[in-house]
Amino acid sequence: MFQDKKVVFSGVQPSGSLTLGNYLGAIKNFSAFSDEYRCYYCVVDMHAITVRQNPAELRRRTYDTLALYMACGLDPERNVLFVQSHVPAHAELAWILDCYTMFGELSRMTQFKDKSAKNADNINAGLFTYPSLMAADILLYQTELVPVGVDQKQHLELSRDIANRFNGVYGDVFVVPEPYIPTTSAKIMSLAEPSKKMSKSDPNENAVIRILDDRDTIVRKFKRAVTDSGCEVRRGEGKEGIENLMSIYGAVTGKSFDEIEREFDGRGYGDFKLAVGEAVADSLEGVRREFARLSADKKYLEEIMAKGASEAARAAARTLGKVKKKVGFTDIRY
Ligand code: TRP
Repeated sequence: MFQDKKVVFSGVQPSGSLTLGNYLGAIKNFSAFSDEYRCYYCVVDMHAITVRQNPAELRRRTYDTLALYMACGLDPERNVLFVQSHVPAHAELAWILDCYTMFGELSRMTQFKDKSAKNADNINAGLFTYPSLMAADILLYQTELVPVGVDQKQHLELSRDIANRFNGVYGDVFVVPEPYIPTTSAKIMSLAEPSKKMSKSDPNENAVIRILDDRDTIVRKFKRAVTDSGCEVRRGEGKEGIENLMSIYGAVTGKSFDEIEREFDGRGYGDFKLAVGEAVADSLEGVRREFARLSADKKYLEEIMAKGASEAARAAARTLGKVKKKVGFTDIRY
């Protein structure tokens, strides 16, 4: 029934807890695709081990990430929700694509350079070939559209290059994917340094709102958000902090910048920060409640994982079979 639909694929790492930026910029919008597209949303645990992980923690976060996807509105009946390591075709295609990915290309990836600098004692081969595993994730499903943050754009361009290179040699095997980088509220900045993106791995907890932060924590973090020495709620030179709060407020209430300026005309930063904190806490309340319910039900999450893995594996096998034939592997029954 889905066969004629175009495909959306996205992945999220089960590391660090997701932020308001991940929610507003990405996950919240994922559910809208499923009317028009066949959607695959994958918890990429294989990518996660490119940096050292505590095994028990990785396992827990894998369940939690799936529960969070669902709490954010992704219905497992309308989307394929699955865990990367459950579908071995990802590892198999990644190896093949490694042989069609150039050392020079991988060396130019800015995420590799950043992560190597951060993990100087563990610059492993997986960290280096991370992008060809990501290309395998995407290309296995004949994906048309990949919703990602702007930081993943370079990896997506490499996926396209790999697909084109492979197609150039063997004919049209892969659909060449397009990135989908939402422009509205795509970029939520740090509350402590508003010139930097809000990052789930920021060591300063006050800089980051987590989707699962409780109400008091959210309100407190917004109270402490760095602004400027002025007092007017409006955009302008040197007012990046206020502007960030305005776009967050706009994203959760649907109000425009002009409406927000009018609403807070003559009122100070204190009032405004409290309003932003409360609005964000309100909008995440349902997610948090649903997460608590789902994450307590491990058996149900495992049923979803199993269903997702079997659906994903079926689609992946089609592409992988074709690829193996093209490159000249033999095919036997045993
Ligand atoms: N690299 C992505 C990130 O860190 C996660 C990811 C892995 C991904 N495979 C993917 C995203 C495929 C989109 C499509 O955010």
